Amino acid sequence: MRSLIDIVDFSTREIQQLIDTACDIIERPQEYAEACKGKKLATLFFEPSTRTRLSFEAAMLELGGSVIGFSEANSSSASKGESIADTARVIGCYADIIAMRHPKEGAPYVAAQHAGIPVINAGDGGHCHPTQTLADLLTIYREKGTFDNLTVGFCGDLKYGRTVHSLIAALSRYHNVNIVLISPEELKIPSYVKREVLEKNGMSYMQTTSLEEAIPQLDVLYMTRIQRERFDDLETYERLKDSYILTLDKLQTAKADMCILHPLPRVNEISVAVDGDSRACYFKQVLNGKYMRMALILKLLNQSADEICDAADEGELAVNTFRCTNPRCITSTEQELDHIFKLMNAEHGIYRCLYCETRAVAEK
Ligand code: NCD
Repeated sequence: MRSLIDIVDFSTREIQQLIDTACDIIERPQEYAEACKGKKLATLFFEPSTRTRLSFEAAMLELGGSVIGFSEANSSSASKGESIADTARVIGCYADIIAMRHPKEGAPYVAAQHAGIPVINAGDGGHCHPTQTLADLLTIYREKGTFDNLTVGFCGDLKYGRTVHSLIAALSRYHNVNIVLISPEELKIPSYVKREVLEKNGMSYMQTTSLEEAIPQLDVLYMTRIQRERFDDLETYERLKDSYILTLDKLQTAKADMCILHPLPRVNEISVAVDGDSRACYFKQVLNGKYMRMALILKLLNQSADEICDAADEGELAVNTFRCTNPRCITSTEQELDHIFKLMNAEHGIYRCLYCETRAVAEK
């Protein structure tokens, strides 16, 4: 059973198929109005969300299906101590597909192992957010017509911003994409993204703290909010929260056709005055997210048994040899889970947690 946990679970060919389906839905919505008649989507949101949850719900309703679910952990049996695996098994008896958001990294992966129906990761901690990436990709495609040869700047909280991690992974598979990483020192991109996505794929990238210096070269500027809820120490958040504010003034040196994206919610990273600028694409991005979620639900509900995952790469697994040290990993709270690591680099004995991608190194 195919699920979508990480954007790289899908090949670039599959992503293009989703984009083509989404474009067809935009052209001929009536053709899809009953495509999921009789099917149920369960939205399991253990962490607050407005747009992602409602986007999934709107997507399923526009396909003629129905929706069940909850929007906060307190109203689910998780508050009684139920494991993700049990919740997933139970929901698998009621619904045809699950969209899950969870504060612990790897939780949707665990659900996918037990649900018996496709699971979509709607955001897991600071880790991944592949359906936001689908929205981002459709927006870039519709605005720029290509993913190749673009210079894409990411600005803000690159450490905890899961949408950033997923979009960089997706862009790493296109030709000649240049990445500009703009963040305060404390919120730089995690080293695993740098090593295993940017460097491993030979992508050209640069890191800077200055939005003003970076802006003239960008084709796409991806603004993000500072992720208050992921800070252990609120003093640091207070110090960093206004690091970048995009104003009309700062846009003066930007290309006339630069595309401004933001996964939303915006706090104050983009001045409201920018909304009227032709380069502001973040509300189009919201609508594109609904179309891509429609395309995704259709794909996952209509998968054939022998569908092959041409993006999946198998590596040697180490079960309970290492313990994951990431306090945000689902293995930190679900005691019965095996700690599973995948071999990434045999020469240096580097392994990666299957749930949250934290590194472990084998002793020599
Ligand atoms: C993002 C998220 O949840 O990670 N929002 C979203 O899904 N549209 C970005 C954010 O919360 O900052």
